[in-house]
Amino acid sequence: MYGFINTCLKSLVIEKYGEETWDLLRIKTGVQDTFMTYEVYKDEITLQLVDKACQMLGVSPEAVLQQFGEYFFEFCKRSGYDHMLRTLGGNLYEFIANLDALHSYLSLSYQAMNAPSFRVEVNDDGSMHLHYYSDRRGLCHIVPANIAQRVTCCIIPPPGRVTSS
Ligand code: HEM
Repeated sequence: MYGFINTCLKSLVIEKYGEETWDLLRIKTGVQDTFMTYEVYKDEITLQLVDKACQMLGVSPEAVLQQFGEYFFEFCKRSGYDHMLRTLGGNLYEFIANLDALHSYLSLSYQAMNAPSFRVEVNDDGSMHLHYYSDRRGLCHIVPANIAQRVTCCIIPPPGRVTSS
């Protein structure tokens, strides 16, 4: 996994639980303190960090990944991807439908990326069915929390409404 993701995880732990918790977490998992954004690290590092964080904080992997999903949105904005996220789609359907194109575009910078893929279907009652495909196991709880952030942050209006900005 790219260092960008591990740095995001580190930043989340420090912001929500403090520097000492991060130090304890990285010592327990035996991982380094800093990650280079454009360097690829073994997926085990990310998974170990999530696993040990669950043990230390006494929460489920679902809860940690949900927090990560929410935080990832903010982290991307702060890392200079705000504009890219804003221009991704006029509504939630378009936003999700364009996620593959976003990751494809990002793979110009993150060339070894093994990106997830998404497909969205609209049901008869107007609800949406999101399909998430990944070569990695155990990260699916990131997805709804991450996407929900776009709705709560009002960048993407709910389905059926068209943004004017
Ligand atoms: C501009 C914003 C974004 C950036 C810069 C970004 C960047 C990245 C990067 C660098 C990875 C690591 C891939 C690898 O190392 O192989 C990744 C993975 C991932 N991204 Fe994005 N991403 C963005 C937006 C999103 C959004 C909106 C979602 C919505 C759900 C998303 C979902 C994921 C997931 C779930 C993974 C984990 C990898 C997997 O599932 O296999 N990303 N992204």
